[in-house]
This record gives sequence, C-alpha cells and structure tokens, in this order.
Amino acid sequence: TTARVTVDPSFRVGPAHRRLFGSFVEHMGRCVYGGVFEPGHASADALGLRRDVLDLTRELGVSVVRYPGGNFVSSYRWEDGVGPVGDRPRRLDLAWRSIETNAFGLDEFMRWTAEAGVEPMLAVNLGTRGVQEACDLLEYANHPGGTHFSDLRRKHGVDEPYGVQLWCLGNELDGPWQVGHKTADEYGRLAAETARAMKLIDPSVSLVACGSSNRGMPTFAGWEATVLEHTYEHVDYISAHTYYDPSDGDRASILASAVDMDAFIREVVATADHVAAKQRHRKKLQISFDEWNVWYQSRLRTDMDRGWVEAPALIEDTYTATDAVVVGDLLVTLLRHADRVGVACQAQLANVIAPIRTITGGAAWRQTIFHPFALTARYARGAVLLTEPTGPTHDTTRYGEVSSVDTVATHDEETGALAVFAVNRGDTDLTLDLDLRAFAAPRGEEHIAIDAGDDVNDPAAPDRVTPVTLGAPTVDSGRSSVRLRAASWNLIRFT
Ligand code: AHR
Repeated sequence: TTARVTVDPSFRVGPAHRRLFGSFVEHMGRCVYGGVFEPGHASADALGLRRDVLDLTRELGVSVVRYPGGNFVSSYRWEDGVGPVGDRPRRLDLAWRSIETNAFGLDEFMRWTAEAGVEPMLAVNLGTRGVQEACDLLEYANHPGGTHFSDLRRKHGVDEPYGVQLWCLGNELDGPWQVGHKTADEYGRLAAETARAMKLIDPSVSLVACGSSNRGMPTFAGWEATVLEHTYEHVDYISAHTYYDPSDGDRASILASAVDMDAFIREVVATADHVAAKQRHRKKLQISFDEWNVWYQSRLRTDMDRGWVEAPALIEDTYTATDAVVVGDLLVTLLRHADRVGVACQAQLANVIAPIRTITGGAAWRQTIFHPFALTARYARGAVLLTEPTGPTHDTTRYGEVSSVDTVATHDEETGALAVFAVNRGDTDLTLDLDLRAFAAPRGEEHIAIDAGDDVNDPAAPDRVTPVTLGAPTVDSGRSSVRLRAASWNLIRFT
C-alpha cells in the first residue's frame, strides 16, 4: 500500500513557533518536590534545583513552562511561596489532598526557568481568589519598584522585574472538581475584570482565558462561547486541555487520538471566530493548548486513596513505545494548526505524566515520550507547511474510518532544512511517496522512527526505547519514497 503527499514551500500555515514546545510544572505529586527541586540530592545546586533534571529539560527542547497549576492553583496563595523559606506556611493542598510545604515558590521557579533557558507562563488563582490577588502577583512579578509588592520582590533579592509575558486566568473552572468551580457567566465576568485590571498594571502581558477542561465536557463549546462573549476584547488566547487514556480503548483508537485533538482545535477556532463575528472583532484569538498528553487516567483514584502527606507519588505513568507514537502524532497536529495554536504545553514535565522521571534521591531518565518531543522541538524549524496525504484508511472503534497516515512538514528558508513528520497509525507497513519537486535539489539526510509496542524505559533499562535511525532517504527527480512501518512515528529530513 502506498500513501502520497506533496510538500511545497508555498503552502505555508504559519511559523513553527517555539512556544508550541511548552511544558508544565504543577505542585502536584513529585513534579516539584523530588522532580525539578530536591535540596540534598547529589545533583542539586545551592538552591536545591536538580541539575540532572535541568539537563534533561534542556535536551527535551522545552520553550515555555506553565506554573504552578493546574488544579493546584485554584486554592493557592502565591504569597506563601515567597520570602524566607523558614517563614513559609505549611498548607492543605485541596486539589491533590497533599501537604504543601511551600519550600518552592515563585522566586525558586523563576530561578529554575533562567537555568533551564525557558519562558515562564504563570497562572493566577481565580478559584478561591480574584482580581486583587491577581493584580498583587503581577505587581510583584512585573512592576519595577517603588510599590508594596514590587519592593517586596526587591527585598527578596530580585531587583529587576521578571517581565512575565504569558498569564493564565485560572485553570479548568468549568470542571466540577475544581476548587471554586464556576458557571461560564461567573467565570467570564471574573476573567474579564481580572484581565482588564492586569492590563492596567502591565499592558504588554498576553492573557489566556480558560476554555473547557476537555472536549467531552457537557458544557463544551457553550462554555467557550459564553466566556469569550465576556472576555474576547481583553484576552489573547483561549485554553484547551486534552488527555488520551490508553487503558480506555482499543489500540487502533488510541493510535488515532490525534483525530480527536484535530477536531477539538477546529471546534474551538470555530467558536472563537463565531464570537469575533458577532462582536465585530478584527483580532483573531489564538489557542493556548496548555495541557495535553497521554494519561492512564483510570489510575488516579487509587493514587488519591490515602491521608494528607507531602509530595505523594501521583500519576507516575510509565509510557510505552505506543504512547510515544501517539505523542508524536499529537505534536504533528499542534504544528498543523500553527496558524491558530500559539502556545502548547505538554503536561507535565517531571514524574507526573511526564517525559522525565526521577527517583527521589536517585537517578533521572527519559521516558519513551521524551523522544518524539525532543526530535520535533529540535527539527520543526521555520515555516509549517500544510500537507494533505492521500492513501489508505482504516477503521477505529472510537473515531470510525481514519486516514492511516498523518503528516506535517516544516521548512527553514535560512538553512534549507526540510523536515517531514509522518505517522503510520495503521497496522500494516506502507510506502510514503513524497513529491518534493517544489524544492531546488533536495538531498535526503536522515530517517528516524519509533515503532509502537509495549516496551517501556525504566531505571533498569532507561534506553530500552529510543528512536531508530533507518538511513538517509534517496531523492530522484524531486521524488522520494520511504517505508513507514506499521504503527510508527517518523521524522524524514532533507536539506
Ligand atoms: O495535569 C494534571 C491535571 O489535569 C491538572 O492539574 C488539571 O488542570 C487537569 O485536569
């Protein structure tokens, strides 16, 4: 069987923004404590930041990191996490039924982002708090000095403002599980007023209104429409979150998860554009896809069944090679929508449904899903090019008939580098014929692949699953033909 695709530099979708390769650090389980931060660990610096995790974060190619939640933020007091560590209160974290020591807070996170070379994206609490506390936090972070909260930051040793550009107006407030859960009208009003006030303090910030927690929410689409009717003129992004649970379906459906993400993006765009049309806005809203991943969600209940403890191990999913193929395809989908998806954060960075796993007091390693992320972040450069593959289809229980091949390409005009990302979601090998005649004399560089399967990486075999190099593709008169093995993620590079 053969699939065909034409790649042409004039079919430009938009830039392959760095912000599409974001991640997320939440005060949840061992993402912070024992993950990015562990004073006393052999690799920790003077502040307690784990250097082994910092190295892996840089290798992963992460660009922007969202913090401090997630559900956690909806009952968080940001003031608890600044100032002398010895004075910080221990609190009940209602989201994850944990004890929060506050040994790590905003100033430690900002130091960590500087070390990791990533952009911070902060969330304000619009669950139990409101306009005032969001303004206080923004004043602490971004105001130069001479006022109460900016001088407090300076007293804590940080003279220059952090200048944080990306701010989330709360988290998943459509979800009944959220502390401070709201109706769309309640949240929309609060988000609009918070946005207006925040932009008075710092007009340069970009703000994200909460969209739905996932596409399956009963309020999905109506929530976005109502929230945007209140907030459209004040915000820059609407958020989207999605997780795919491999224990919750057949293999063909799991491998086709990106079909759902693709439809989700189109529906949110349509809803935002509807509000823009109705209210006569010229501005095109972007999506901040600030939580996405594979998550064996059914395991969460057992993890929560315990007393109040510090940093319990929560949802430390071990990913298979199949999960890596799915993650690769989700990245293909995000890139394909680079005209409307402006930020994307894989959730989360360390231990909690994460590409990086650690043992407290021990090693750190790369999960299977680390690899497609790192390779996509590294090679998706320049412009994203729209590709429309034709070829075989197959049936899935959840999504019906789906295209077996999913592709996207990027082209860097400066270096001439062309990268084609191709996923074979079907269960048979096939040939992908690439028509590259629109490029001047392309040369095949490399074909790298990850095959689906049940293998995982663990401390005993941290590199059991790694990408395989299949040799350089040949190009003949502007055409190239590559083998896409059954259920595999592929990166095919040309210059
Ligand atoms: O990433 C884990 C949790 O999933 C986040 O805290 C929440 O926003 C989402 O439901």
